[in-house]
Amino acid sequence: MNHCFRCFSIVLFFFLSCMSYLFGQEQTLSTVDTGYELWMNYKPLPESGLKQSAIRYGSHISLPGSRYDEVIRKELERALKALLTVTPIFVQDNAVGIQMSFCKDKGLGEEGYIIRSGKKRITLQAYSDAGFLYGTFHLIRLIQCGYPLEQLNIKEIPALEFRMINHWVGLGGTVERGYAGKGLWAWDDLPKKIEPRYTDYARAEASIGINAVILNNVNADPRILGHDYLEKVAALADIFRKYHIKVYLAPNFAAPVKPSTTKDVGKQWGGVGIGHLDTADPLNPEVQKWWMDKVNEIYSLIPDFGGFLVKANSEGMAGPQDYHRSHVDGANMLARALKPHGGIVLWRTFVYNPEIDKDRMKRSYKEFQPLDGQFDENVVLQTKNGTLDFQPSEPAQPLFGAMRHTPLFPELQITQEYLGRSVSLVYLLPMWRKTFLDFDTYCNGKGSTVSNIIAGKTFPSRMLGMAGVGNIGRSRNWTAHHFAQANWYAFGRLAWNPEESTESITSDWIKSTWNCDEATLEVIRQMMMPTWESFVCAHAPYSLGFTVKREDHYTAGFEQRANKEWHVSKESIGTDRTTKGTNYVSQYFKYNKDIFNSLSQCPELYLLCFHNVPWSHKMKSGKSLREEFKSNLKRGIEQVDVNIGLWKSIRNKIDPVRYEEVLESLYKEQRDTKVFYQAALNFFSQYW
Ligand code: GCU
Repeated sequence: MNHCFRCFSIVLFFFLSCMSYLFGQEQTLSTVDTGYELWMNYKPLPESGLKQSAIRYGSHISLPGSRYDEVIRKELERALKALLTVTPIFVQDNAVGIQMSFCKDKGLGEEGYIIRSGKKRITLQAYSDAGFLYGTFHLIRLIQCGYPLEQLNIKEIPALEFRMINHWVGLGGTVERGYAGKGLWAWDDLPKKIEPRYTDYARAEASIGINAVILNNVNADPRILGHDYLEKVAALADIFRKYHIKVYLAPNFAAPVKPSTTKDVGKQWGGVGIGHLDTADPLNPEVQKWWMDKVNEIYSLIPDFGGFLVKANSEGMAGPQDYHRSHVDGANMLARALKPHGGIVLWRTFVYNPEIDKDRMKRSYKEFQPLDGQFDENVVLQTKNGTLDFQPSEPAQPLFGAMRHTPLFPELQITQEYLGRSVSLVYLLPMWRKTFLDFDTYCNGKGSTVSNIIAGKTFPSRMLGMAGVGNIGRSRNWTAHHFAQANWYAFGRLAWNPEESTESITSDWIKSTWNCDEATLEVIRQMMMPTWESFVCAHAPYSLGFTVKREDHYTAGFEQRANKEWHVSKESIGTDRTTKGTNYVSQYFKYNKDIFNSLSQCPELYLLCFHNVPWSHKMKSGKSLREEFKSNLKRGIEQVDVNIGLWKSIRNKIDPVRYEEVLESLYKEQRDTKVFYQAALNFFSQYW
């Protein structure tokens, strides 16, 4: 990078920042792209026929009289002023422009909408209030991304009712597995001080269809349920409600217990319970009453509170099994407290108690599958997409398709715990699609893909939803790496419609975050699309299992993991989970069981998760496993080298601050990837 150019950009940034400070206007800063605007980066569109037609439509707008009119008006003013340099006039009824009105189509439900257009008018219709909010963001996206507006005929109904972001934010402000600074909620300042960021956060979530946020870490500090914290939560709920977002909390199962006795109940929060009881046994009437009272208190502050997300009997967290009760007992007890208010329980299935099975990958299924059908109707199980733990690649969790009588929401991880933190550019959408949503479980024969199952198409489900573990923090651009914004965006769009094409989600993100220039679009797409695959090749080849250090989940940890969590020797590598091995394959429906069980048919992406394979094994490429493995390890470095070149090729198309920051990230990624590669090479060469 040309040194002068870099200095110039930095000086320009500081100059504009100082101007903004001097004139006391946050506004000035927005002339410099910092990434704060995310994909709502409204910039003047280039002059064109499309822009002229957008101006004609956008000049007059009639609002529907919905609960969201105020935020819709503000968003349209902001967007249209910036994109089209028009200040829309809001009118009562209009024959020309954008007209929003309620319609009688009940099928649109709570959140659906219809957008149609003729030569003079765009109509946005919805059956219920929230449809207008989502329809408005859709319309803005169409304008922003330069779609023709003249013959619109769009009908959108979200496939999933619950579209949730989980924030693993602790009360001290740190984010577990967060790589973008501290958590967004300034707990100490709430409820008095309300930061403008909260509203911008809500705008961002609503713009991609998110309607639920869990505010705190699943490794839950019990104090989140104290009255003082509930008031803070209520203050956030008041803001989010304006954007049709409900708040949820992650309670600690042992919260009813006295502080002095909690030390025996789960190791993580020993000694800091907030109740007055000696037990948290879910069948104890006093415990049940404690939760009823607590839930009533919550609803008195937050009338539309969503419910609880619970991590129980997992990684040291308290749970019903501490009292010899089952997950069903625990979940139903909480569900009964929430039911009168319309709240739900999301009970996580991320458990891996070694007593259940020697193979960690079999444990969650073995614990939960037999409980299917026993949960109350307002209980959902929340299940990680993969079986092991958010690995760069791993087969889909076999519970999907195997729980016919219990709603199962997938939990995807947007934050890149095992995928290069906020250092590596790794676009997760291709992974979510290939290893998860498109995975055909065969639970009802061919076509029983995970995306069909979670959308209730394969068999009915009482509730449909999807959760993502957020990747945002207080860093100026929210996600630290500018490209990590794409993972947040893609998650939201997928939760709205798991079948939405990768192509359209990706290009909409690029256009609305960077710009609509063709070369920019093409180059950024080329940078993003191969990154997941190359990351897997370089870091966790063929779904081998954990390869990073236990302490950080980032640096190479082959020595720590080898021959404990997976096998390697001079002859072979990988874990035998076939019918002759741990028999994990048998948790899948027959078609997949047979495929995974067979060395020749098993997809190579999952080869070492299911098989112990001789290094001499011939791969589809014609190379031996040893040769292919070795050359694949280099793909991480090759990809980042290519990406640096590609990024430099669009230097004059990208605003200076973000250009520089991305380049810095790429250089850091290059350095760290080289270190990882060297460690991998050193480790594996002793077996080659
Ligand atoms: C992983 C992660 C933990 C997290 C846990 C969970 O193990 O490393 O930080 O708490 O998943 O999902 O509960």
